[in-house]
Amino acid sequence: MDINQVKSSIVEDKGAINFPKISKGINLENVSFAYEKEETIHDITFSIPFGKTTALVGRSGSGKTTITKLIDRLYDLDNGSIKFDRLDIKKIKLRSLRENIAIVSQDTYIVDGTIKDNIIYGKQGASEEDIWQAAEMADIADFIHQQTKGMNTLVGERGVKLSGGQKQRISIARALLKDAPIVILDEATASLDNESEKNIQHALKALMKNRTSLVIAHRLSTIYNADQIIVMSQGRIVEKGKHEQLLKQNGSYARLYNAQFK
Ligand SMILES: Nc1ncnc2c1ncn2[C@@H]1O[C@H](COP(=O)(O)OP(=O)(O)OP(=O)(O)O)[C@@H](O)[C@H]1O
Ligand SMILES: [Mg+2]
Repeated sequence: MDINQVKSSIVEDKGAINFPKISKGINLENVSFAYEKEETIHDITFSIPFGKTTALVGRSGSGKTTITKLIDRLYDLDNGSIKFDRLDIKKIKLRSLRENIAIVSQDTYIVDGTIKDNIIYGKQGASEEDIWQAAEMADIADFIHQQTKGMNTLVGERGVKLSGGQKQRISIARALLKDAPIVILDEATASLDNESEKNIQHALKALMKNRTSLVIAHRLSTIYNADQIIVMSQGRIVEKGKHEQLLKQNGSYARLYNAQFK
């Protein structure tokens, strides 16, 4: 199974080139988008600076996940542009774009197969050593060692049942193995027990280190550590800044913070 075989109605530009080596970041400019008739994203402009962590927050349905789909070009924009440094997303080969972006999504995608199948998913042909290293960094190696069949343990129906936290760590290991320069993390909303929470935090830190990352944050710790917070409401950006600064403004972020995180 290859992640690049996912069907897509997106048409590749004839002169499309490989993903560039970026040094500035990702720029969204006047981005508007509708899934169907009704517009979901309205005229959004913001940058995701190179090597830093940008957190996206907002109520359910405000358009956060949609933004991640646009950056991975699962859909084309109706208006505006997305650029990697100065190169428009439409000028980049789709396969190359997706090879350079690792997404850990809200609903972890577990393939029907072994633990190894699930980790190797983003990078076919990876060595055994690299797979274990990714598992180690994602804090899932101990769990794998505990299984009699180790990496070859089947997950799902006839194999071991995975907890929410284990699934997340496997998907983090998958993203680590992929070793893409850009990481998009759509944090799961479901709360985990304290132990899993700690393990996940550690794994996420490893994943975001030295990468350009966009995190849809539901955890307070992620938001505190972000270099920049973008606040969305009903498909628009309503505030931008750092935690303390946004709290002081006593606007949307403060309301969201008081409702969700206190
Ligand atoms: N595939 C789709 N087709 C049509 N509408 C969609 C689709 N996916 C999402 N939407 C709509 O777009 C809006 C934004 O959804 P999105 O998933 O981006 O929100 P979100 O901010 O990620 O919410 P949550 O915090 O619950 O994950 C919602 O009104 C949603 O119903
Ligand atoms: Mg979402």
